[in-house]
This record gives sequence, structure tokens and C-alpha cells, in this order.
Amino acid sequence: MAHPPDSRFPVAVLVSGSGSNLQAILDAAADPSYGAEIVTVISDRPGVRALDRAAAAGIPGAVVAWKGSTDRASFSAAVCDAAEAYGAEALILAGFMRILAPNAIARFPNRILNTHPALLPAFPGAHAIPEAIAHGVKLTGVTIHFVDEEVDHGPIIRQVAVPVEPGDTEATLQARIQAEEHRVYPEVIDAFARRRLEVAGRSVTWKEPV
Ligand code: GRF
Repeated sequence: MAHPPDSRFPVAVLVSGSGSNLQAILDAAADPSYGAEIVTVISDRPGVRALDRAAAAGIPGAVVAWKGSTDRASFSAAVCDAAEAYGAEALILAGFMRILAPNAIARFPNRILNTHPALLPAFPGAHAIPEAIAHGVKLTGVTIHFVDEEVDHGPIIRQVAVPVEPGDTEATLQARIQAEEHRVYPEVIDAFARRRLEVAGRSVTWKEPV
């Protein structure tokens, strides 16, 4: 590890849109005792609200445009290059709507985290919330996981169940899910940054705080 063990763990947050999860992480990281430092926020498109949130917090933003990319591998390499240019040692996906190619996973093995708005392996993909409503499930939730070469598949770090209420719309269910994400994702990132997560195959265990 490049940075001294007693310093904050440098991470890049990857976004594509509103950035409400980014905001929750920024707010947590405003506490100097938080384990991770956000060194940059990278978007796959310009003009998103998440970049405004980064700027307001004084965090440098970068755009690695997907549009115009010749292929997923070169796009993924460019994202990793941008993150490493700021000293990031992990990638935190927060509403990032692109699939990273295997070259990114190889550069950040068990160092890429994602939050998904369902209880994986149920409802992977980009439409988890409407699919959960359409299926009529009574419980859905949040899954925070490491990213591997398959979509929404890597080792699960933490899950929180969220009830689906009668009459829920996509918007009302998303609001309930995101409230949980905003609470739990910053906690997981802090534990990861403090090296409290141990990964063995698909199993992730939490070590006690030291
Ligand atoms: C989150 O709900 C996350 O689960 C999904 O995308 C959403 C992003 O929202 N992957 P935001 O940009 O953090 O507001």
C-alpha cells in the first residue's frame, strides 16, 4: 500500500447522475476521523449534479466520457488512470452506470465497491427497483458488494432489507432504499478503509475495530 498506514485511505468515487450517495459519503468524510479520503470524483458524463456536489465540497472532479469511447477496456483503463492520477487506491461506485472491464478489476482487486438497490442475487442490472415492484416481492433492499468481472455479482459485504409497501411507486420505494444506502454505504466504506473487511473467495467477514 502506497500511503502510510496511519493516514486516511484514498478513494475515487465514480458517479453518473444525482450523486445522493456521493453526498452521504462526502458528509461522512467531512469528519477528520473518517477512514477514507475522497481524492477525486469521476463521472462518465459532464454536467451531472454529482460533479457539482464534489465541487461544493472542494473535491476535484474529472470526466472520463463514455460517449466516444472506442471500447469498454480503453474506457475502463482511462477511468483507472484518472483515479490513480489523484492517488486513489480504491474505486467507490455510487450510481455509476457503466460496467468496468476486467482490466479495471485486475488493477483494483477487491478494491472496487458498489451499492445496488436490491437484495442480490435478486434483481441485478439497471432496473432493480421497478422489477422488484413488478415481481410483487414484499422485501427488497440494498446490497453493498465488491465488484468482480460479472455484473452485480461480486462478494457481498452487507445487505439491508427494505419492505415494499402496498401502493409503492418506483419513486417511493427508491426513496426508502436510498435512505438505507445513505446510512450504510458510508459505514461500509469506513470499515473497508480501516481494513476491517476480510475477503476469502465469496465470503466477506468483518473484523472488530482495533
Ligand atoms: C443508487 O440508488 C444506487 O443503488 C444505484 O444508483 C443509484 C444512484 O443514486 N446503483 P445517486 O446518484 O447516488 O443519487
